[in-house]
Amino acid sequence: MRRLRSIAVVLAMFAAGATGVWAAGEKIEIPDRDWSWNGPLGSFDRAELQRGLQVYTEVCASCHSLRLLAYRNLAALGYGEEEIKAYAANYEVEDGPNDQGEMFLRAAIPSDRFVPPFANEQAARAANNGAYPPDLSLMTKARKNGANYVFALLTGYQDEPPEGFQLMDGMYYNKVFPGHQIAMAPPLFEDGVEYADGTEATVERMAADTTAFLAWAAEPELEDRKSMGIWVLSVLAILFVMTVAVKRQVWSDVH
Ligand code: HEC
Repeated sequence: MRRLRSIAVVLAMFAAGATGVWAAGEKIEIPDRDWSWNGPLGSFDRAELQRGLQVYTEVCASCHSLRLLAYRNLAALGYGEEEIKAYAANYEVEDGPNDQGEMFLRAAIPSDRFVPPFANEQAARAANNGAYPPDLSLMTKARKNGANYVFALLTGYQDEPPEGFQLMDGMYYNKVFPGHQIAMAPPLFEDGVEYADGTEATVERMAADTTAFLAWAAEPELEDRKSMGIWVLSVLAILFVMTVAVKRQVWSDVH
């Protein structure tokens, strides 16, 4: 009897949950983009990743951490050792203790992880109206349809919410954010950065570059994995051809 009752409770919860989701949600369309790394032969575009790093550094990094990335990982974007040292040296990390037993600040070095903008979650919330800017290391994997979603989010702001939509104070209307109210102010503006390679910094370009950079950060081994796959397939193909040749050889007398 008790079991029956708990099954009923679970079913009721499930039904309630299901209607909750139903009530909350109209279906939000996330358009697919043709990313350079899509498909079995796809790979990252180094120039795009470098521009994405620039946008992350100049715009997103004031609120969002990228904890899983170390400065030396930037070698994969085509930067040399000196460039990486110089980039890391813009940040300070706490180290220690020294001989006096005290912690001290020093410039970051290539083996350090990306230094977060806030000391802890509380400080991050305090600076953002109570909302927490999530770490972006795995963002393109954490969200369904990750890269397409992040791009759609960054380009999905609308100055005026649709009629009748109640926007809370300090919130912004975004077409693809679940519920449409997001605490992140639109981070990208036309010419918000001045690209080192001279590319015109449209909102769409910056959004695509940042998304590419984040997709790489979430999956830096993607290209290795793809080339390993192709290598394995090639070996299998060669083995197959050899097997067929051997089979023909063996059976040639029989015919
Ligand atoms: C001024 C601070 C600030 C800046 C600058 C900023 N963000 Fe955010 N971001 C936030 C906050 C706060 C949230 C949490 C929003 C919420 O939960 O309503 C957020 C959330 C996000 C999310 C998660 C959305 C989700 O589905 O939960 C992504 C992705 C994101 N930001 C990407 C970026 C990128 C990329 C940049 C740089 C182009 C950027 N942000 C710049 C404050 C910022």
